[in-house]
Amino acid sequence: MEKPFILHMITTAKNLSPFDVNMAMDAGWVSAVPYINVEPSEVRGLVQDAIFSRGPKGLKKTGIFIGGRETKQAMDMLKLAKNSMVPPFEVSVFADPSGAFTTAAGMVAAVAKVLKTEFGETLKGKNILALGGTGPVGQAAAVIAAQAGAKVRIIGRQLSKAERVAEVCSHEFGEGEIEILAGADADKAEYLKTTDIVFATGAAGIELLSEQLIKNAPQLKVAADVNAVPPAGIAGVDAFDNGKAIPGSTSGALGIGALAIGNIKYQAQKSLLTKMLESDEPLYLHFEHAYEVASEFVNNE
Ligand SMILES: NC(=O)c1ccc[n+]([C@@H]2O[C@H](COP(=O)([O-])OP(=O)(O)OC[C@H]3O[C@@H](n4cnc5c(N)ncnc54)[C@H](OP(=O)(O)O)[C@@H]3O)[C@@H](O)[C@H]2O)c1
Repeated sequence: MEKPFILHMITTAKNLSPFDVNMAMDAGWVSAVPYINVEPSEVRGLVQDAIFSRGPKGLKKTGIFIGGRETKQAMDMLKLAKNSMVPPFEVSVFADPSGAFTTAAGMVAAVAKVLKTEFGETLKGKNILALGGTGPVGQAAAVIAAQAGAKVRIIGRQLSKAERVAEVCSHEFGEGEIEILAGADADKAEYLKTTDIVFATGAAGIELLSEQLIKNAPQLKVAADVNAVPPAGIAGVDAFDNGKAIPGSTSGALGIGALAIGNIKYQAQKSLLTKMLESDEPLYLHFEHAYEVASEFVNNE
């Protein structure tokens, strides 16, 4: 009998994301098995339990997905999973905690596309404010954009938290090769005087960039919002906008909305889940791979 495709889906949270289960099964995984409330220290045992029961052919039909809410923890779990393989007993692993890696990848790819097509520019050297950037989506977006050469500042309500998060992003994800700055919400208007790009990555249903702030952002080019729950994270940006002029912007800034980004996120996640199914070699996938496939998708649109 042909062995079925089995995706072992690990999360440190109480529930596995139904979104991720749907995505996995729709991509062709036949069985998506949840492991919930997992401690990171249990990853080695779970991985080794999964790899030794199937021969080489069966292992190509076996994969591991890492969810949860924490970006750094998910990256640590991905590394631990990789180090727990015993070649040739090895399977692909994909980390996408809280959908943040693919969502951030979709947003940054959409911004890079609008910058290129509408302004003939790239992310390199651009000043970016990641508003509400202390959550998983903001963190991943900050790292992806900084790796592309942008100067990113994570903004949160408390400076101390934003500083802590920026430090982790620079040193853990960025492995010391990028430097992400931090700032407090209270200083947002000041920072906006020299901001080229805004990522609105705060919790759902909260406006982070008001009409007034947009008016007073003299060099703003692109503002992207991942929040699909009204009110929008950026005043005047509709969820379907994809490079549409933001009403009231004195600098001619263009907006990208949550559903336009959600479509790219969906394509990126589907693409990585499919690559795991099709690859002859084990793959270890995270935000960098998500950005690669999201960029490919937007550039072929
Ligand atoms: N479009 C898509 O495909 C897609 C996919 C996944 C997620 N999302 C959306 O992406 C966004 C970010 O997700 P996430 O999981 O990273 O967010 P999150 O962790 O829930 O929130 C991000 C940050 O928002 C700030 N925040 C929370 N409550 C706030 C309030 N009342 N006022 C101002 N700021 C507040 C917090 O920062 P501080 O405490 O530092 O201020 C928090 O760290 C959400 O809107 C989510 O719905 C979209």
